[in-house]
Amino acid sequence: MSLYPHEMLPERTQDQRARQDFVKSFRAHLAMKIRSGLGAVYKARVKPGFEKEHGREPQELQEVRREMTRDPYYQLWSAMQRKSQEMMYDSVTDSLEPQREHLIERYKDLGEKTEGTLELDPDLEIPKYHTAADIHIMPGGYHTDVVDDDVSAGVLYDAAMDIYAFGFMGPKNDLLARTLINYYQKEYPDHTPTRILDMGCAVGNSTTAWKEEYPEAEVHGIDVGAPVLRYAHGRAGSMGIPIHYKQQNAEETDYPDESFDLVLSHIMFHETSQSALPRILGESYRLLRPGGMMMHLDVPGGSDPFSSFVMEWECQNTNENFANMYRATDMAATAVKMGFEEGKARNEGAPAKSFSPHFKSWPVVVGEK
Ligand SMILES: C[S@@+](CC[C@H](N)C(=O)[O-])C[C@H]1O[C@@H](n2cnc3c(N)ncnc32)[C@H](O)[C@@H]1O
Repeated sequence: MSLYPHEMLPERTQDQRARQDFVKSFRAHLAMKIRSGLGAVYKARVKPGFEKEHGREPQELQEVRREMTRDPYYQLWSAMQRKSQEMMYDSVTDSLEPQREHLIERYKDLGEKTEGTLELDPDLEIPKYHTAADIHIMPGGYHTDVVDDDVSAGVLYDAAMDIYAFGFMGPKNDLLARTLINYYQKEYPDHTPTRILDMGCAVGNSTTAWKEEYPEAEVHGIDVGAPVLRYAHGRAGSMGIPIHYKQQNAEETDYPDESFDLVLSHIMFHETSQSALPRILGESYRLLRPGGMMMHLDVPGGSDPFSSFVMEWECQNTNENFANMYRATDMAATAVKMGFEEGKARNEGAPAKSFSPHFKSWPVVVGEK
């Protein structure tokens, strides 16, 4: 499957396409074949070795981590997994760099034609949890302008996501929004949103899905990164979907109280921080109208020490530094601390909308105002 051919994606030569396809298949092979060997290795030698030494099975993630990271099979998988992620960004950069200026012109042209809007804030302070390390090891993160008016981070995120997930996010990279929309429509059939805010929208891959589903609604997307938002603006313009994008920190936005009846995010919280997380839940509450809802979907965790160890790989190896913090947080309880009424915030699971490897459901914190 290829990505939906909107005009912000770089053209690819045959060699560039072949290189990216190779990395995509390599990642699929690592995820579907090699990764499953980790469980066998754990059962056959790592766990019995631990039991022999300690007279009990490992009870903590840290114990599994200490033993597994010494195992040569794990080391081989982990090294290849890390390398595949570096190759992924290299392969996208290959097609991006010669076309960077052209794509910047294109975003400007598309932006002029769309009814959607883009407001950037050059004075916005980028939070330290973004500047201190390149999340996903994506060069420059979501916020770095390599040149003026840059869109590179958007290209890297959008094109690499398709390789990263070997296509299972769908041609518009919108599996997560489709998952959340599906959940919302099943659980809240009587709701019809009129003003929607998508926090941490990046390239707008989830934002446009909500507008496609609710064309009558006014849909807004915010992010701290200017280059991803420029790209999002061009992408939405190319797809003929009017969205209002704004460079804002979700911890404290400039929208008035009670601006939205649906406040959303898709895989944002695990890339924030321990202090930002409650602030964003508090801001979600402030922005909701009475009768409105927030739904924040994020990454699943493991259900036992071994599966938690496998799930935390990105946290330890590709700068998803706050994913374990997110997984350890009771989101509903935190939402109540930040303003939601007791009983009006719940931790739920949204069944995966279509095939996704390794997990069938995504955690969602739901809050009603
Ligand atoms: C993993 S991406 C998710 C992008 C998109 N929502 C999706 O469904 O693929 C996380 C995004 O959240 C943004 N983000 C993280 N912290 C933020 C904050 N405090 N305010 C606004 N955006 C934030 C990042 O810049 C990044 O673009």
